[in-house]
Amino acid sequence: MPPPPPLPDLGLGAERAEMLHARLDRWWPDLHAGLTELYGADRALQTGTEVVTHAARAFARRPDRLHRRDLERMLRPDWLQDPAMVGYAAYTERFADDLQDVSTHLSYLEELGVRYLHLMPLLETREGDNDGGYAVVDYRRVRPDLGTMDDLAALADDLHDRDMSLVLDLVLNHVAREHDWAVRARGGMLRYRSYFHVFADRRLPDAYERTLPEVFPDFAPGNFTWDENLRGWVWTTFNEWQWDVNWGNPDVLAEYVQIILELANRGVDVLRLDAIAFMWKRLGTDCQGQPEVHAITQVLRAVTRITCPAVAFKAEAIVAPSKLLAYLGQGPHTGKVSDLAYHNSLMVQVWSMLASRDVRLAAQALGSLPPEPPTATWLTYLRCHDDIGWAVMDDDAEAVGSTGPGHRHFLADWYVGDFWGSPARGLTFQFNPDTGDRRTSGTAASLVGLEAAETPEETEEALAALRLAHAVVYGWGGIPVIWSGDELGQPNDPDWASEPGHADDNRWAHRPRLDWQRAEARHDTSTVPGRVFSDLVELGRARASLPHLHASVPTTVGPVDDTGVLVTLRDHPLGRFAGVYNVTPQTRVWPGWRVHSLGLADAVDAITGRTLPWGDDGDVHLPPYAALWLTVPPR
Ligand code: GLC
Repeated sequence: MPPPPPLPDLGLGAERAEMLHARLDRWWPDLHAGLTELYGADRALQTGTEVVTHAARAFARRPDRLHRRDLERMLRPDWLQDPAMVGYAAYTERFADDLQDVSTHLSYLEELGVRYLHLMPLLETREGDNDGGYAVVDYRRVRPDLGTMDDLAALADDLHDRDMSLVLDLVLNHVAREHDWAVRARGGMLRYRSYFHVFADRRLPDAYERTLPEVFPDFAPGNFTWDENLRGWVWTTFNEWQWDVNWGNPDVLAEYVQIILELANRGVDVLRLDAIAFMWKRLGTDCQGQPEVHAITQVLRAVTRITCPAVAFKAEAIVAPSKLLAYLGQGPHTGKVSDLAYHNSLMVQVWSMLASRDVRLAAQALGSLPPEPPTATWLTYLRCHDDIGWAVMDDDAEAVGSTGPGHRHFLADWYVGDFWGSPARGLTFQFNPDTGDRRTSGTAASLVGLEAAETPEETEEALAALRLAHAVVYGWGGIPVIWSGDELGQPNDPDWASEPGHADDNRWAHRPRLDWQRAEARHDTSTVPGRVFSDLVELGRARASLPHLHASVPTTVGPVDDTGVLVTLRDHPLGRFAGVYNVTPQTRVWPGWRVHSLGLADAVDAITGRTLPWGDDGDVHLPPYAALWLTVPPR
């Protein structure tokens, strides 16, 4: 491996210069190895030199307060794994008026225990439909209706003052058709044409299509779009106005390096690497999660570690559990890529348990996940801005006597209320007649039955089920992230289709504007918003008090003694943590002998402070939808 390239003279003071050199020495091997994997040894040095120059310049421009944050995080590398972390995700304009106004609502988030705020895409997008901001026209400008880059930096400061982190999307699989690179490509500039995957005829697109799935079969079928100006077919995995960029071109990588460093210097703490799985294309494959994706991430991560180590990466990879761990670093990429990833499987299994009132599939699926690296942190969630894809693996379903297609069908029916007894009010998203696949949109409240509840008993049951679901998400380990509105039990937005560009995409039904009037009732526990909000506050407080929930500790699934009771175990040096969840509306029994054999007979529930509900028969009787977080107090 060649030595690190020389740094430009930036007039840094001696201490800063020494710091930069030390970091370069430390991370250059990762940077160089990733580039070599992508572009070969010759080109690796050239691109490496260019990238390191960008890194050094950004380091020199980095504000002092952010250098300080870098230092703090180098001293606390497990900051994301802290059990006190609770996340919240929202569209700026649906949560507040604009970026400045977000600052006025931070005490609300503080009340909820939030330490991590993900604001949905807010950089300048194309006009008209823009996939909720995922069609960026300018990475260097904030959407004018939301404010400016200076407002973003000011908000980051306000968040940091309150010990909160700012999370932003980095859309790096595609740009809007109106982005400058695409405009230049369409204008005939070859340099920019090579930023995209363009094909003069259908030969290669047809060959790729043979193994490519469709992400939006409903409103954006196919993966290529004819462009008259290009006189070619351009790769468009998502919508036809979202052009996939060509990461096989090192110039594209250098562009994104600069974008990342500029966002980092505005105070962004976590970058959510949007649609990361799709970034590398290979004929004959589904073009998802190719090894090069991880090499790209390794390069980008090494650059941030040199310039701005306070910044972490979150992989947005909604893929099969067996494939997910590569995004958290496996083999040569261990510890070198993203530290955060969505626990999609947990999300699906929570909904599956509630619908089927049976934990066996969840125990099988969650119990057979390969162990994640100790530096990794799950992002656990009940719901996000996207639809729920019913990612139940065929093997897992068969292992518990069901079938994958059958159970997926059941869940897709249940959550739109098309199954007898279902109180759910979701909406079917992207029915694919070729595969039979149906996904579901809906807020947590609408999916769990709060929207449909007519009697106090039905409301009570839905609230209990929702508390249980949140307890699983908060008690798994990792950062639980609440989607805006779910903390108040907001139902689907009845007017979702009336906004321009939204009518075809019912994911907008579960992205309601935060109802601030509803929020006023959050302290009144006789109301639905009051109940849901206080349940979450309680769970957040309990979490923060439990070192057992530090994300480096793995979660295992305990034995299933009752098909309605899920037990999760986390063995921390301080002792055992057990999450015990009755996913049914009936009282269920946890056998006393099992409680003893797990060493939990004297355990106390950290959420309520109560001891176990023992029955006279020597078994533990779990009330409907009981959720207990057990630890054994030290003697
Ligand atoms: C991610 C986003 C989703 C978006 C897609 C394309 O999956 O979560 O909302 O449609 O990327 O950018």
